[in-house]
Amino acid sequence: VPTAVLISGRGSNMVKLVEAARDPAYPAEIALVLSNRALVPGLVYAEEQGIPTAVVESRAFKGDRAGFEAAMDAVLARHGIELVALAGFMRVLTEGFVERWQDRLINIHPSLLPSFRGLDTHARALAAGVRLHGCTVHLVRHGVDEGPILAQAAVPVLPDDDEAALAARVLAEEHRIYPAALAWLAAGRVRVEGDLARVDAPGA
Ligand code: GRF
Repeated sequence: VPTAVLISGRGSNMVKLVEAARDPAYPAEIALVLSNRALVPGLVYAEEQGIPTAVVESRAFKGDRAGFEAAMDAVLARHGIELVALAGFMRVLTEGFVERWQDRLINIHPSLLPSFRGLDTHARALAAGVRLHGCTVHLVRHGVDEGPILAQAAVPVLPDDDEAALAARVLAEEHRIYPAALAWLAAGRVRVEGDLARVDAPGA
């Protein structure tokens, strides 16, 4: 299934999706890496790998989110994209875009949703004193960091953690669960029932 990965910067989750998709048995093909910022490290990596890349600069649209997304949709259509994976993509999408891509649009978020939606999740987890933190892959719905959950992984918060140490522990789990969750979606194993997603066993 031709899949686009949308990034804004480093792109380490995108790298893991690309690596997973090298396996011929993997059900998604990374057919496009699209960034809303030019010259970011993730784009350089994708180009080196010979993966089609595109830049749709959100800055150029000066707050015209619908125009920005129309430009993205045109690029996605040109590449025959059927699934979209947000991976550190730092723009909030409009309801129109989310509805057009309903159940074909996934995101990874660095917290155990529904806790800590939004930014600075690791600092907020430390400030809250939680003993468990983690990451979530979910289908994107209108609300920021809302939508049916596909996969989660938990990590301990250790007494001497700072933000960087905790972020690194969570990121290692992001890199594990995101390729798995994208594969379930691409293989048609995800059934959405209202606010919940069920993942069928392979071949079920
Ligand atoms: C990840 O922690 C992701 O969950 C969050 O932003 C970070 C992006 O990292 N949304 P990378 O660009 O995938 O390396």
